[in-house]
Amino acid sequence: MKLNNFKKKRICIIGLGYVGLPLALEFSKYFKVLGVDIDKSKIKTFKKKYKENMNFQFETKIERKFNPDVYIITVPTPLNNQKKPDLSFLINSTISVCENIKLGDLIIYESTVYPGTTEEVLIPLIIKKTKMVYNKDFFVGYSPERINPGDKKNRLPNIKKVISGGNLKTLNFVKKLYGKIIKAGTHSAPTIKVAEASKILENVQRDINISLMNEAALIFDKLKIDISEVLRAASTKWNFLNFKPGLVGGHCISVDPYYLKYRSEKAGYQPAVISSGRNVNEKMALYVVNKTLKSFSNKKINICVLGVTYKENCSDIRNSQVLKILNILERKKINYNFIDPHVSKKKLPKNLSKKYKKNFSSKYDALIFAVPHKEFLKKKKYIIKNLLKKKSVIFDVKDQFNFKNLNKNIKLIKL
Ligand SMILES: NC(=O)c1ccc[n+]([C@@H]2O[C@H](COP(=O)([O-])OP(=O)(O)OC[C@H]3O[C@@H](n4cnc5c(N)ncnc54)[C@H](O)[C@@H]3O)[C@@H](O)[C@H]2O)c1
Repeated sequence: MKLNNFKKKRICIIGLGYVGLPLALEFSKYFKVLGVDIDKSKIKTFKKKYKENMNFQFETKIERKFNPDVYIITVPTPLNNQKKPDLSFLINSTISVCENIKLGDLIIYESTVYPGTTEEVLIPLIIKKTKMVYNKDFFVGYSPERINPGDKKNRLPNIKKVISGGNLKTLNFVKKLYGKIIKAGTHSAPTIKVAEASKILENVQRDINISLMNEAALIFDKLKIDISEVLRAASTKWNFLNFKPGLVGGHCISVDPYYLKYRSEKAGYQPAVISSGRNVNEKMALYVVNKTLKSFSNKKINICVLGVTYKENCSDIRNSQVLKILNILERKKINYNFIDPHVSKKKLPKNLSKKYKKNFSSKYDALIFAVPHKEFLKKKKYIIKNLLKKKSVIFDVKDQFNFKNLNKNIKLIKL
């Protein structure tokens, strides 16, 4: 059986989140696209929002009538409570494809996974469910996503995309397909495992580099050395890498090292650097709280935390280390509020939402600038003037606010 004719391709994208929706919108410029998501409210919203787009159709399950010949899977790959890979979303979406697949169809996975997931878990599942023959009756590709939500410059069409396929014909087909939408070009990995490993290594590398800076921050704090000045000096060397200390959260960087660790341990190797980097990054929320509290002689203070998302200018709170900061404040019975114009109260965990403030109102002993959202950067002067008590503390967690000429009663701290 051959891969079905390129021109006629009808694409079904499963999982319309941060990755799937932009991908579906881009493909819908060239192909008929069916977007599938189990989240009914998302589908309802998208049906309204994109009703003018004649190439784009939305459903909560795969429509047999649509008759797709390419399936692209962009579902979450989180961790379970033992910090092990939770492949249930990938498995469930693969099963739903198996119920609809026909001879000659192609399935492309885009979710971030440990190397081997596609060939060791997903392809055997498809074979078992459909009794079809891999690389003869059905075809599989893997192409990791690199988009960066909130980033206006690096958008899907101008980010080079790594692609792979189960055989050369599939790879060429995948190349042609993504070539339509990715103007920056594609990189053909020789195997699916290489493509899977490349994505996970990109994210592990970032986690480790930040963890090294975090560890340096912890050391220099003890030595009473200002790390931002250390970085300014060190970065004048041509090959010093430009990483800063910070909170590492989100659905990717704080999760993917555990995926690689899991597969590595299964293969008999206990990763040392990856694990210790993770441990350091996991400690930083507590460090932010302790460093803030150390500036006061008693616990009778009130704190406002600005921003709770895992990074600036997006609404994603998954694995946000700022939520961890709030939980620590809660546990320590510190009086606090938090504010985030990107997050609606109903999306927040119940135990924290009562401390959510929509607008700035009170005065505080300490302001923790946790996320440099553009709204906070714009209102910086107003915030300092109106929200701080006479003797107070500002924590610029990401060192992005460039606070200068502060009143001498205001103590500025950084990581
Ligand atoms: N968010 C990012 O910046 C980013 C970047 C690169 C790679 N990734 C990877 O891409 C994958 C998707 O991430 P995301 O951030 O888009 O996730 P997301 O949670 O924003 O979106 C996933 C969507 O899949 C839906 N879904 C779950 N199970 C389904 C099923 N069985 N059938 C249909 N829909 C289903 C969910 O309802 C959700 O809307 C993950 O593996 C992630 O690691 C994410």
